[in-house]
Amino acid sequence: MSKTVQVLDLSFETYIDKKTIKQRVKEMGKELGKEFNGKKPIFLAILNGSFVFASDLVRACKFDHEISFIKLTSYEGTVSSGKVITQIGLQEDLTDREVIVIEDIIDTGTTIYHFLPTLKKSNPKSITIVSLLQKPTALKFPLKIDYIGFEIPNKFVVGYGLDYKGLGRNLKDIYQLKE
Ligand code: IMP
Ligand code: MG
Repeated sequence: MSKTVQVLDLSFETYIDKKTIKQRVKEMGKELGKEFNGKKPIFLAILNGSFVFASDLVRACKFDHEISFIKLTSYEGTVSSGKVITQIGLQEDLTDREVIVIEDIIDTGTTIYHFLPTLKKSNPKSITIVSLLQKPTALKFPLKIDYIGFEIPNKFVVGYGLDYKGLGRNLKDIYQLKE
């Protein structure tokens, strides 16, 4: 049954329920295992949005790995501002490391596209991009996302780490903006 939640001035309805998310995240852990078993990659989760997905994804991965965090922002309310600001930068030495970037959602691609050159400067052995969600029709940059949880239409979503003006990250399901 569909549930409605109110976040500030906007109404949202259930779109991907927590059981479906859990199952898909488990599968994604297995898919990553096929590529990374026997290696020791470092996950780089992009804060804030990806913290919930990242915490579930790493626990779905059976191979050895490390995790670190960076904080980038490009969003103002429900629209991408087109600028990317680094609020917490890279702390680790990534030289010759297999790096797996974890995003909550790839929308216009602005965040990831502008972050990749910085990441490449730290000379990783490889860069893999994992995103729980992608809005393919919103993509504005030539990007290859290696692992995608769900492709979704170009509508604003909240929950499972994703926010609207800072709120709604604690919702267990993913909700879509009501028209
Ligand atoms: P991009 O830079 O346009 O690809 O947007 C990436 C970032 O914008 C994501 O990491 C999210 O934090 C945020 N974002 C994009 N779409 C949504 C959405 O539908 N709901 C909440 N946050 C979003
Ligand atoms: Mg984000």
